[in-house]
Amino acid sequence: MNFPFAPQAVRPVTRKNVVRVLDAWYVACRSSDLGRARPLARTILGVPLALFRDARGLPAAVLDRCPHRNVPLSLGKVKNGELQCAYHGWRFDGAGKLRAVPGLPIVDSTSEATLAAPGRNARGYATREQDGYVWVWMDPSVHPTAEPFALEQVRWPSYLTVRQEVEVEGTLHSTLENILDVPHTAFLHGGLFRTEEKHHEITAHVRRTRGGVEAQFVGEPRPPGLAARILSPSGGLVEHWDRFIMPSVAQVEYRLGSENHIVTTSMCTPITETRTVMHTALSVRTRLPVKFFAFFAMPFAFQIVKQDKVILRAQTEVVDRFGTETFSSTAIDLLGPHILHLLKKAEARDLDSAIVRDETVKLMV
Ligand code: FES
Ligand SMILES: [Fe+2]
Repeated sequence: MNFPFAPQAVRPVTRKNVVRVLDAWYVACRSSDLGRARPLARTILGVPLALFRDARGLPAAVLDRCPHRNVPLSLGKVKNGELQCAYHGWRFDGAGKLRAVPGLPIVDSTSEATLAAPGRNARGYATREQDGYVWVWMDPSVHPTAEPFALEQVRWPSYLTVRQEVEVEGTLHSTLENILDVPHTAFLHGGLFRTEEKHHEITAHVRRTRGGVEAQFVGEPRPPGLAARILSPSGGLVEHWDRFIMPSVAQVEYRLGSENHIVTTSMCTPITETRTVMHTALSVRTRLPVKFFAFFAMPFAFQIVKQDKVILRAQTEVVDRFGTETFSSTAIDLLGPHILHLLKKAEARDLDSAIVRDETVKLMV
């Protein structure tokens, strides 16, 4: 795309839809990505972190900066469950506490007393490992007030779960809205599961609490395509929910007939203001053999993600190029405004004042 006459942004854009909710859990990586020998560098909300496994094998996260001379701790290695800096070998435990300074004579009765001094510890972050992911609580000054989102779908028997990570150029809010937005599917993903022609009026019940917002769609007919006919030969109803769970989870659930159930949960981790990683788990139960489903449905899912990635990037580039944003919405922009409202309240630590809502919206699909 080329906009020869568009004004160039002279300074970084202040984006209205950027939020930074620190007192919350975010997925840092998959459990399987974090081994015992090497630390892993990850950035969440602009904060560089070094992740590693402590002596018990539990995940640990510290600020990725050695308090000695500013070297990234993620360049080091893990020794007996302690993270050893690559420069002078200082070693830190899972809480970021300094445990060893090689070459420093121990003069006190305990090495702890010798090592303790202000500013020598690395800043530690609370972590949890759950359902195949490592989560980090991003406010080191506040003890976790809740547990991470429980990804129950991966524990359901007779479901196939596929996991995938995709990094997009979009704010956390734009990414969440994109995942949960219905009207774009007929255009950006035109023909894949909805078409431009609108024949059916359906109803969305939108419920907003302080923990998130959910849209339940009623009256959506079975899609016309071959895939839906194979999945549910007898017809059957489509039941569909789109959910946002504070502050970073987007979930889409479909039931087609009695045998087919698909739940896609994307745990979205903002890396910077305009880059977000979606950690997605898709769980499915179908009348078809799961291998068959994986073979045919996965290329379709990848195609959708690819198209969304292109649009999110284009949005971000346009805001950068113009230096300003425009947002105007109608009633069928169902969840985006609610998501932003809740995130802004959480950022201001004023979630208690968020207004709970229950509304019904008509839309054509
Ligand atoms: S910079 Fe890390 S030990 Fe010196
Ligand atoms: Fe999409």
